[in-house]
Amino acid sequence: MSFLDRIAAAIAPAATDQQRAEARAQLEQLAANEPFAEDILAQHRRIEALFAEAREGNGAGAQATITELAMLLNAHSMAEEAVVYPEVSAHSGKAHAGMAYEEHAMTKVQLAELQKLAPGTQEWREKLDHIESAVQQHVYQEEGSWLPDVIRYAPVDARQRMSAEFKAYFERFDRS
Ligand SMILES: [Fe+2]
Ligand SMILES: [Fe+2]
Repeated sequence: MSFLDRIAAAIAPAATDQQRAEARAQLEQLAANEPFAEDILAQHRRIEALFAEAREGNGAGAQATITELAMLLNAHSMAEEAVVYPEVSAHSGKAHAGMAYEEHAMTKVQLAELQKLAPGTQEWREKLDHIESAVQQHVYQEEGSWLPDVIRYAPVDARQRMSAEFKAYFERFDRS
């Protein structure tokens, strides 16, 4: 475990499957009439499905799935960083927003390393598992804390602007 991973684990211990499911169910309720949050939830589900598909695959098929996953994660994270995290900073705290940006940066580095490895090898599987766990924990923080804070505390005009801008940013970057 890296130094940063140890700090992250101490601050936010890994959530159980049940905790992650409860956070998602709670956000699904809050996200009604909040298009940015509904878009984020739909993208999180696509990301999870691509991790599962990559784990099942081998060779060129798995490599194509990882490329699609990387493009989707990059488009998703760019839109969050530009539109959502400034509101996380305002309504959930600067430390939370800082952690969120940092986790995106680490995931981009890890994904680039994964794409250089041969699919199906042990090293590839270990890195895929590591990235999937990190992304699961990040998604849990978003769904369980950061996004609920924004929905509860950001004024309605800010949330409406976020919904329009999140969609525009995502569509601009998404080629997956
Ligand atoms: Fe994120
Ligand atoms: Fe996200």
